[in-house]
Amino acid sequence: MRYTAHTPSGVVEFWVPGGSLSAPERDALAIEIARRDYGDAVVTLGGKEEPVQTMAEIKASGRMPTIEEAEAFYDSIASPRPSDGWFGSNQHISKDFGRVQYALGHIKPGMSVLEAGCADGGLSQHLVGAVGKEGHVTLLDISSVFLGRCQEFISKRLPWATVEYQRTDAATFTTRRRFDVIVAMEILEHVPDPRALIGNLYRLLRKDGKLLISVPVDTEDSLGEHVHDFKEADIAVILGDATGQHVTVERQGNTLFAAVDKGNQVAYVR
Ligand SMILES: C[S@@+](CC[C@H](N)C(=O)[O-])C[C@H]1O[C@@H](n2cnc3c(N)ncnc32)[C@H](O)[C@@H]1O
Repeated sequence: MRYTAHTPSGVVEFWVPGGSLSAPERDALAIEIARRDYGDAVVTLGGKEEPVQTMAEIKASGRMPTIEEAEAFYDSIASPRPSDGWFGSNQHISKDFGRVQYALGHIKPGMSVLEAGCADGGLSQHLVGAVGKEGHVTLLDISSVFLGRCQEFISKRLPWATVEYQRTDAATFTTRRRFDVIVAMEILEHVPDPRALIGNLYRLLRKDGKLLISVPVDTEDSLGEHVHDFKEADIAVILGDATGQHVTVERQGNTLFAAVDKGNQVAYVR
């Protein structure tokens, strides 16, 4: 639900997940969030009862979500729910985790790395740690709520790091910087056009850069956040179409991994 808080410095809008909460519980949570984010002086809330459609609901209606709808949805799931603790948090992800290990296998100190869809920084913290003081990391997310949490987390945990934060659609993001490694993990299944996303990220690689992807398979989409349910065979086709490269896809448990190496091109034939 969308809430409006009247603060001393103006009116601000923010999202509170409706889900399993009763209206009074949601109001109480809205006040808690407003106090936390905008200070004790917030006194009034209003303008609520505008439900956020999930990505899956929008797709089921026969079309893909717009960027604005995706942004509203991810902002809404990035907000806390008392029933789940801080819902949407990946910040506990440890260095041993499968996709962290996969990414770290390709990252060296001093590299320039981009992560597309960083959420609240669970994977990002390890990428930032791996490039070290000499490196540079760009973190993108479509949700300003997720990105804000990410920035707060990383800047406290790794205050020495050089990190750039961008609230943007990763499928159209542009910069003059080029990257040694681009990490697009657990994002392909969320975006309307995965080929456009991959094509854009591939373009941002240095000539010998690598694009790393991971995609969940045979898993539940409990929040309605996926617009694709990929099968194992889909991924090599999407990567091939978008980059012109033949890519080997590897399955570990319920995750598919692939690395597209721009410096070692193997032509893709459909
Ligand atoms: C499941 S999380 C992945 C987090 C992290 N990459 C990881 O592997 O732990 C997906 C993230 O992608 C973001 N996202 C979805 N669509 C996006 C888009 N078009 N551009 C940028 N970020 C997007 C969501 O807001 C969410 O934070």
